[in-house]
Amino acid sequence: MSTSAPPDVYVHPSSVVDEGAQIGPGTRIWHFCHVMGGARIGARCSFGQNVFVANGVQIGDGVKVQNNVSLYAGVVVEDEVFLGPSCVLTNVTHPRAQVVRRDLYETTRLRRGATVGANATIVCGVTLGRYCFVGAGGVVTRDVPDYALMLGVPARQVGWVSRHGRRLGAPDERGEMRCPESGYRYAEVQPGTLRCLDLDEDRPLPPEHRVGKPLPAAQETP
Ligand SMILES: CC(C)(COP(=O)(O)OP(=O)(O)OC[C@H]1O[C@@H](n2cnc3c(N)ncnc32)[C@H](O)[C@@H]1OP(=O)(O)O)[C@@H](O)C(=O)NCCC(=O)NCCS
Repeated sequence: MSTSAPPDVYVHPSSVVDEGAQIGPGTRIWHFCHVMGGARIGARCSFGQNVFVANGVQIGDGVKVQNNVSLYAGVVVEDEVFLGPSCVLTNVTHPRAQVVRRDLYETTRLRRGATVGANATIVCGVTLGRYCFVGAGGVVTRDVPDYALMLGVPARQVGWVSRHGRRLGAPDERGEMRCPESGYRYAEVQPGTLRCLDLDEDRPLPPEHRVGKPLPAAQETP
C-alpha cells in the first residue's frame, strides 16, 4: 500500500490500495478489497470483504459497505450511507462491449444516510434521497425521494421510513408519523416531501439514539 492514508487507517494485508488513494482516519478495509489511486474515501468508513472502489469515486464519512460491492466511476456516496451485501451500482445505461463509453459514465448519487439492501441494483443516473431505503433485491430505475421505502422490480415507493429505517405508519390527525424506535416525528411538508420534525437531516443522531433497539412485539407487525 502506498497512499496518502493517515496511520490510523486499517487495510488488511490481502487488500490492494493503489498509490494516490485518499482515505480518511478511522477507515477500515477488510479482506480482498481493491481501492484505485483516484478514489477519495472519508473518515470512519468500513469496507467488507471483496469491495472494489474505482478511480473518481467519492465516498463520504461513516459509510458502511458490506461484502461484494463494486463502486464504479460516476458513483458519489455521501456520509453515512449503508450498502448492503452484493448490491450493484452501475455507470452505463446502454453498455455494449463493442462501444467505448469511458467518457460517458453517468453519475449516481447516494445521499446522506441512504440504505441499499442486499442484492439490490441501482441503475445509473439516479439520485437516492437522504435516508431512503431500498429493500433487498429491489431494482431502482428512477430518483428516490428522501425517506422513501422502495421495494420490488422495478422498485416502487411503498411508504416512508424513519432515520432508524423503521417503516412509518399512517399519519395522525396533525399529519404526523412517529418512528416506533426513536419517537421522532415526521410529516409530509408538501405532497411527496417528508421531513423529520425533531432532527434536521444534516445533523447527526444524538448519542442516545445511536444504538438500535428492538420494538415491543406488538409494534413489529403493522
Ligand atoms: C424492506 C424491509 C426493511 C421491510 O422490513 P419490514 O418493514 O419488517 O417488512 P415485513 O418483513 O413486515 O414485510 C412487509 C411486506 O413487505 C414485503 N417485503 C419485505 N421486504 C421486501 C423486499 N425486500 N422486497 C419486496 N417485498 C418485501 C413482505 O413480503 C411483506 O409483504 P406482505 O405484507 O404482502 O406479506 C426488509 O424486508 C428489507 O428488505 N431489509 C433489507 C435487509 C438487508 O438487505 N440487510 C442488509 C444488511 S445484512
